Amino acid sequence: MMDVGRHSKINLLTYSEIENIGGYIGNFQVTVRKKARYVDEKECNACAECEKVCPVVAADEFQEGFSSRKAIYMPFPQAVPSVYILNDKDCLGHNPIACGKCADVCEKNCIDFDMKDEIINLNVGAVITATGMDVYDPTQMDEYGYTQYENVITSMEFERLISAGGPTEGHFIRPTDREAPKRIAFIQCVGSRSNSPTGNPYCSNICCMNTIKDSLLLMDHYPGTEITVFYIDIRAFGKGFEDLFQRSKQAGVKYIRGLPGEIFEDPKTKNLTMLVEDTVANSVTDFEFDLVVLSVGVIPRRDSDLIQRLLTLSRTTDGFFMESHPKLKPVDAPTGGVFLAGCAESPKDVKDSVTQASAAAARAQILLNAGKINVEAITSDVLTDFCTGCQVCVKVCPFHAITGGDAKLKIPVEVVEAACQGCGTCAAECNFDALTMKHFEDEQIIAQIDAITGENAADKVVAFACNWCSYGGADLAGLSRMQYPTSQRVIKTMCSGRVDSKFVLHAFENGAPIVLVSGCHYADCHYIDANRWTVKRVDKLWDKMERLGIRPERLQLEWISAAEGQKWANTMKDLEKMREQVTQEEIEHAMKVLKEDREKAEAKKKKKAEKKTPVKEIPLEAIT
Ligand code: FES
Repeated sequence: MMDVGRHSKINLLTYSEIENIGGYIGNFQVTVRKKARYVDEKECNACAECEKVCPVVAADEFQEGFSSRKAIYMPFPQAVPSVYILNDKDCLGHNPIACGKCADVCEKNCIDFDMKDEIINLNVGAVITATGMDVYDPTQMDEYGYTQYENVITSMEFERLISAGGPTEGHFIRPTDREAPKRIAFIQCVGSRSNSPTGNPYCSNICCMNTIKDSLLLMDHYPGTEITVFYIDIRAFGKGFEDLFQRSKQAGVKYIRGLPGEIFEDPKTKNLTMLVEDTVANSVTDFEFDLVVLSVGVIPRRDSDLIQRLLTLSRTTDGFFMESHPKLKPVDAPTGGVFLAGCAESPKDVKDSVTQASAAAARAQILLNAGKINVEAITSDVLTDFCTGCQVCVKVCPFHAITGGDAKLKIPVEVVEAACQGCGTCAAECNFDALTMKHFEDEQIIAQIDAITGENAADKVVAFACNWCSYGGADLAGLSRMQYPTSQRVIKTMCSGRVDSKFVLHAFENGAPIVLVSGCHYADCHYIDANRWTVKRVDKLWDKMERLGIRPERLQLEWISAAEGQKWANTMKDLEKMREQVTQEEIEHAMKVLKEDREKAEAKKKKKAEKKTPVKEIPLEAIT
């Protein structure tokens, strides 16, 4: 942090919030609110005189509430810049000034009660999202008694109590009697690897090693302490981690595979008891401890929604930001020019965060050094003659790559090619065929459907598969030599969002018995949330099919990831069974009603167009 603060080419904006981010790769406009800290950053030399005279006492957030701070304070000992801050919510009042003692004692006159928030506008080429994480709130799992018993603490609170810079200057005490505890339990996976509605299903990655480190620290500071760790599995898979684990065992730390169901406190001694099933020894034992440490898991930042909205990012089902590709682009966000680092992407330790941050910085540097960007070959184009400016495409584009458009003034929309990632949702949603997607044009896809259904259409299943997931799943099924019927014919689109309703209807009109639309799992779409529009479109198609007397089951929607080759094969087997049940009469009925419906719609469209631009009859004599 010190190095960053001193670096001549890094402009560090602390105590600031991003208000808005606009633009696109190579050209982001960022609006930052630098909040008033009421202390002159350049003048303050952290002499602490102001803190001494401040009469306000508030809980110190950095010390997890174990000690207090003043209304004017240093956020934490190694803060960069090393400058005081006045918390205006705690201050007795500075407008009008109610106390002003801090200003009176400050010899350098750093206190400025009139300081205002500053709005800073930046123009940047790339953005790195390194917003970190929050920790699981154990009050949601009250079987461990965190809200009832003072001697049940979290691993974060443990860190403060054992730290030399902490409220007890490194003397580890239990909160009720301020004595050094002799018997300490660590309970792992609090809020992680849990299927309960209050927990998270994922592994938080860092808690096992954190507990191993803490147990060694305790053994070092307080030899003879009895330490027991209750766990599901110990995950010590990093470099040197297994060594550390073995060292803690050799130092006498007991590891018991099993978690307690509930913790009880003896009201007199304040000791904590618990019943635990040791799943290795196959025995149930009663334990008693002086102190219990809950090894709480990691959760995404609580303000992730805001960051997601500002940067048009995607999130995985666990709430962390999603990378563009887990193997090939692990630090790139799906939005061009945005990169991810640290726990914003997934729970990770310091070493992995630094590695990822270095990679993200290098990726951003490559982009900036190039001075120009290569746009995707597969982007959308506007056919301005057809565009009515209705802005439906503006609404559906996950990357805000389509701008402008005015239906009243008949101004067509524009595609910012640098921002367009080529999902094709705009082309699928446009009612006027005013958007085309290079390499995945309507004509190209219709031609593929015609080729598939040209002969023996009733024997085929037309399957639309998105490039990133379902097509990968089909590939994996093939590579793994999985057996499934040969009736399916796959049409690849970049995203399931590109599958226009007219493609599905065209396949049925041509006599296809079954059509499948498949893509990435709902929250895993590589184009943020483009497959949300796929769901809406398929819903509408099911309604229409029902109206026209076509069995909606003939159109199937499946989410199949690239790792789910078996699911692809199973789906194909199920579809084949469905195909065999579709009768010739059903196919012919669908072909007939869809043809009539299409012709009716085309006639209506033509009439409307003629009404709008009436052809003026010019008498022949006038020309001659
Ligand atoms: Fe697979 Fe969007 S990329 S559904």
